[in-house]
Amino acid sequence: MNLGVVVLAAGLGTRMRSARPKVLHEIAGRPLIGWVLSALADVDPTHTVVVVGHGADEVRAVLPEGVDTALQEEQLGTGHATRMGLDTLSSECDRVLVLCGDTPLLRPKLIADLIAQHSAGEGAVTMVTAVLDDAGAYGRVLRDDEGRVTGVVEAKDADEAQLAVNEINAGIYVFDRAGLEAAIGQVGSDNAQGEVYLPDVLPLMGDTIGALIADDPDVVAGVNTRVHLSECEWVIQERLREAAMLGGVTMPDPSTVYFDADVVVGQDTTLLPGVHLRGTTEIADGCTIGPDCTLVDSQVGTGATVISAHVLQSTIGAGAQVGPFAYLRPETDLSERAKIGTFVETKKSRIGPGAKVPHLSYIGDADIGEGTNIGAGNITANYDGFRKHATRIGARVKTGSDCVFVAPVEIGDDAMTAAGSIITSDIPDGALGIARARQDNKEGFTERAAARAKQAAEEGDGA
Ligand code: UD1
Ligand code: MG
Repeated sequence: MNLGVVVLAAGLGTRMRSARPKVLHEIAGRPLIGWVLSALADVDPTHTVVVVGHGADEVRAVLPEGVDTALQEEQLGTGHATRMGLDTLSSECDRVLVLCGDTPLLRPKLIADLIAQHSAGEGAVTMVTAVLDDAGAYGRVLRDDEGRVTGVVEAKDADEAQLAVNEINAGIYVFDRAGLEAAIGQVGSDNAQGEVYLPDVLPLMGDTIGALIADDPDVVAGVNTRVHLSECEWVIQERLREAAMLGGVTMPDPSTVYFDADVVVGQDTTLLPGVHLRGTTEIADGCTIGPDCTLVDSQVGTGATVISAHVLQSTIGAGAQVGPFAYLRPETDLSERAKIGTFVETKKSRIGPGAKVPHLSYIGDADIGEGTNIGAGNITANYDGFRKHATRIGARVKTGSDCVFVAPVEIGDDAMTAAGSIITSDIPDGALGIARARQDNKEGFTERAAARAKQAAEEGDGA
């Protein structure tokens, strides 16, 4: 048997109240459709077709290679969408798994179990159902007196007795293709929504409608509103937190740590409360991150410490220290054992091994050599109002507090700068750069000033 997959994803998702197609709304940084496709991990389909319609090009743009699309120009219902998918599905596929693009909690195991049950059974279709406390707007599964499934009625078409049923249609089915193709042409749209409903094929597919009741009803939840979206986000966050902890990550309060789907965290790393790890972020072993950090598309080396920081598309080396209160903007490359400290902003800069930018500085378009120490309150003035320029600071340099480096400028190895200097010219290796007015002390000034003030006050009294 060759398995084909049709994923229905053409709907706008009216109830989302969004300009964005529903299946592109994200959970843990991955669109809903991406989560659905990830549930195919264990079944190795021969061909997968996603039925697109609303925002077709945007949806196509997020699909992985090897997944094809079929266009459903008008959204005439899930049955019609399935037909569009079948038209594109490779003729090699004689068995068809149909999924909805809005069920992000699906697990690979459920799909594998469904296919195994279908293979073992006799019917031409096996569907997934779930028993819920509140069946809400889901289609209700109808069974006869012997408990055999006879079909599905949509909530909008259901009578009171049917609405009271709490077994729901999960919208996940595996069909023998020939039977499905024969039945689907016979389904009309005489119902509350005037749509061609896919579940209406069920009674047309022979005597046996197989049903797998999901043991975890969460797994089949469909996202139709933003409330559902947040509920599913929570479930996925719980899964990601659990996976991280089982992988050796310490989290004293996991409920405050948020992951994106592809984040990787090493063993013996501690994630303190208020940590958000986004995009392709990778944290190595033995790090301490948090409290209160956001890292986006960034890499952190072994044993690094990051406290109260916002880190974007940057690299933090092994044993490096960041924060508290640091802002690492894109292309910051903090080498091993280096430090970016308190109230420091960096951008497109390399900070060499063991170098330190501990306090109150802006470092942009700069290269800072190994072992250099940047004094408090230093600024690389990288922008002349028109273009950006680079600052190069060598190895083992010590800069004084409150220096400005007016780029382009180069500071040699082992050089120093005096506090309060505005450095506009290069400094050779080993030299001290001073660029500030020389101090002039007025001896006895305080006494004279006091005397003048006293005299002025007395003259004022006499007036
Ligand atoms: C559907 C089922 C319902 C089931 C529920 C499970 C039908 C008629 N009803 O209802 O029995 O309990 O899923 O979550 O199938 N779509 C298209 N083209 C269309 C219409 C829909 O591609 O013309 C896609 C949507 O983008 C969506 C999926 O099909 O991804 C399901 O559509 P939706 O409108 O969410 O159906 P439900 O009302 O949830
Ligand atoms: Mg739905």
